[in-house]
Amino acid sequence: MKLLLDTGNLEEIKRLGDLYPIDGVTTNPSIIAKEGRDFIPLLQEIRAIIGEDKMLHAQVLSTTAEEMVEEAEFLKDKIGGKLYIKIPVIPQGIKAMKILKEKEIKITATAVFTAQQALMAARAGAHFVAPYVNRLDNITADGINTVKEIINLFEIYNCETQVLAASFKNVNQIHQSTLAGSHAITANPDLIDKLIYHPMTELGVEGFIADWEEAYGKGKKVN
Ligand code: E4P
Repeated sequence: MKLLLDTGNLEEIKRLGDLYPIDGVTTNPSIIAKEGRDFIPLLQEIRAIIGEDKMLHAQVLSTTAEEMVEEAEFLKDKIGGKLYIKIPVIPQGIKAMKILKEKEIKITATAVFTAQQALMAARAGAHFVAPYVNRLDNITADGINTVKEIINLFEIYNCETQVLAASFKNVNQIHQSTLAGSHAITANPDLIDKLIYHPMTELGVEGFIADWEEAYGKGKKVN
């Protein structure tokens, strides 16, 4: 399972990249806008931090296939490395995916709300599809069930496209997506921290240190 950071915050990318086995970074226009920085320089800085071999997912803003393709080529030229162009699964987006596939530009189909959108994107050449789990849950749909349906369809039709589950607001949504077999998940820094946090673990570590110090004195190391 691949783990990605859903953020454009450079400090968080450095901090979490240092701590955890991170496979890349996902962004979208809203995430970039939050940083109040120019798009290309920010993406270039993210690329410099994570290196050429980690995935960076950057989204187009246009709504016609021709302009999406132009944007994708521009991004590829400016950012380089293992870049995935995020294209929304609107009709013009599907057309853009077909063209980008021919040009061997990697695609992440985004704003996926149904399994049929995911299947269409897979057929058009997407490498990843990103179902929006929490946004589905928010409209009384079932985000995890959509993840399961997509995985099921991809298995039935032997699609190589992978599921990059996205839009999480709590750890249980991530947990359920991984249990469903999502190939990748992307989560904001706060949720990544929460993924492994447990007060009993913290207490356990405190207890080990206290016992050790009582027996051998404060500051004594094992070596
Ligand atoms: C990532 O690829 C998505 O754009 C992102 O997870 C959407 O998250 P949101 O629903 O919290 O905006």
